[in-house]
Amino acid sequence: MNGKIISIANSKGGVGKTTTTVNLGTALARQGYKVLCCDCDPQGNFSAALGLKPDTITTTIANLMMSVIEDNGSGTESLTNCCIIHHNGLDIIPSNLKLSAVEISLISTMSRETVLKKILTPLRLRYDFILLDCLPSLGMLTINALAACDSVIIPLEAHYLSYEGLELILRTISQVKRNINNALTVEGIIFTKYQSHTNFCRSIRELVEREYGESIHIFKDMIGHSIRVAEASAVGVSIFDHDPQNSVAEAYQNIALEVAGHEK
Ligand SMILES: Nc1ncnc2c1ncn2[C@@H]1O[C@H](COP(=O)(O)OP(=O)(O)OP(=O)(O)O)[C@@H](O)[C@H]1O
Ligand SMILES: [Mg+2]
Repeated sequence: MNGKIISIANSKGGVGKTTTTVNLGTALARQGYKVLCCDCDPQGNFSAALGLKPDTITTTIANLMMSVIEDNGSGTESLTNCCIIHHNGLDIIPSNLKLSAVEISLISTMSRETVLKKILTPLRLRYDFILLDCLPSLGMLTINALAACDSVIIPLEAHYLSYEGLELILRTISQVKRNINNALTVEGIIFTKYQSHTNFCRSIRELVEREYGESIHIFKDMIGHSIRVAEASAVGVSIFDHDPQNSVAEAYQNIALEVAGHEK
């Protein structure tokens, strides 16, 4: 097994990165793949969206990164095993606010862009997919995720400001590709919270397709706006557990098939 690492990233906040990580991860696990999701956001939303209480968890991605920073990773592998939570068919490396302190420590660390990579590379042998839920910033934590992964999925809301932000994340991806991670690719853009009955959403989608469609894959399945999705994160479960008949569940299922298909 040599699992694929995928970052779910966009510097714009609230566009559905965490929701995509939860539901794409769950969809891949339901299709029989071994999936690890790593929460790379000090907000700990991924962990919370699956019903965990980030503030009460003692071993998180922050401890793993500190272990690499402080002693170059000897002992990180056994710590990683303590850190992984098995939850509802998914393996999870949780996060909480302590990760903010790690981001500050990274500033003065040697090879600061590749700390996360050192933790995740050995885990490729144990998983088919490792998904990284990034925070809404292009700081050192996101750079670490982009340096550690094979490809990036960009969740995008069909709003004008999100369209503007797309340029920013694409520029960062190409800088990381040039300087740190030559093999990095964009897996694709997923439209999220999409309201297909509005001309506005359709016109933004057309704009993105026109501007980027030739060079970047745009997933044909769009994630519709549904209050059931927001409810699912509030009660701490995926859409597959909360409302399996919802069209959003079907869309994430199709996207998972497509992502897995890219591997064949
Ligand atoms: N398809 C959807 N329909 C309705 N609400 C959604 C949908 N996807 C996500 N949401 C809601 O939108 C909010 C933001 O989603 P989410 O936390 O996934 O975004 P994010 O990009 O991870 O945010 P952040 O940038 O803060 O990490 C949440 O309350 C979530 O429940
Ligand atoms: Mg998030």
